[in-house]
Amino acid sequence: MKKIVCKNYDEMSKEGAKIIAEQIAKKPDSVLGLATGSTPIGLYKCLRDDNVDFSKVSTYNLDEYYPISKTNDQSYQYFMDDNLFNHVTVKSMDIPNGEAKDAQAECRRYDEAIENAGGIDLQLLGLGPNGHIGFNEPDDQLSVGTHLVELTQSTIDANARFFASADEVPRHALTLGMGGIMKAKKILVVANGKGKADVVKKMFSGVIDTHVPATLLQLHNDVTVIVDEEANSAE
Ligand code: GLP
Repeated sequence: MKKIVCKNYDEMSKEGAKIIAEQIAKKPDSVLGLATGSTPIGLYKCLRDDNVDFSKVSTYNLDEYYPISKTNDQSYQYFMDDNLFNHVTVKSMDIPNGEAKDAQAECRRYDEAIENAGGIDLQLLGLGPNGHIGFNEPDDQLSVGTHLVELTQSTIDANARFFASADEVPRHALTLGMGGIMKAKKILVVANGKGKADVVKKMFSGVIDTHVPATLLQLHNDVTVIVDEEANSAE
């Protein structure tokens, strides 16, 4: 795993956007795995400002709350529209459908769609403060495929800042599984702030632990982790 340490959030965002732009320049019809959360907002802004050409790119998002309406301003569909799709033209985009009646069928559809697209060329990831990636929460066992997950209290608390109150945070989500993430040809992780420092340290520890799902990325052979100085500050 390669680690790039940047001075601050803005540099981390620029560096991350550069890697995505290079991927698209090299393969204009790339299949990108995209992420939400506060961390990649600056990176999406850089891609918009640099007028990166997404016209042949297909995108698949990591996760979505369940159930949630696409028009809810806390849905990941809304986040992606706001941060990227309302500003750039992509060939196609797909996000697990938080409105699906049958969650299991939606998970199967999602895995098949990614496989039919030829798999993900570059997967962008943020880190949950508890070490989750997507919504693969710390547990004794982790799932391979896209699945319905019950959010942990720590994730509900961490994400409550975006909702009117913690009570409004959905208790479930649909997420790409660890297999779906690990099958991506390249993985790009962005992390900033002290709150991510412990997880970043564990990601480079040489130990994998299902209770810190991000540590499994050590089994992948093409991972770049871009951190700011604070996220790199754990002793
Ligand atoms: C959510 C998403 C994750 C994301 C995490 C980190 O829980 N499901 O994919 O990485 O938030 O959020 P932030 O970037 O706001 O710290």
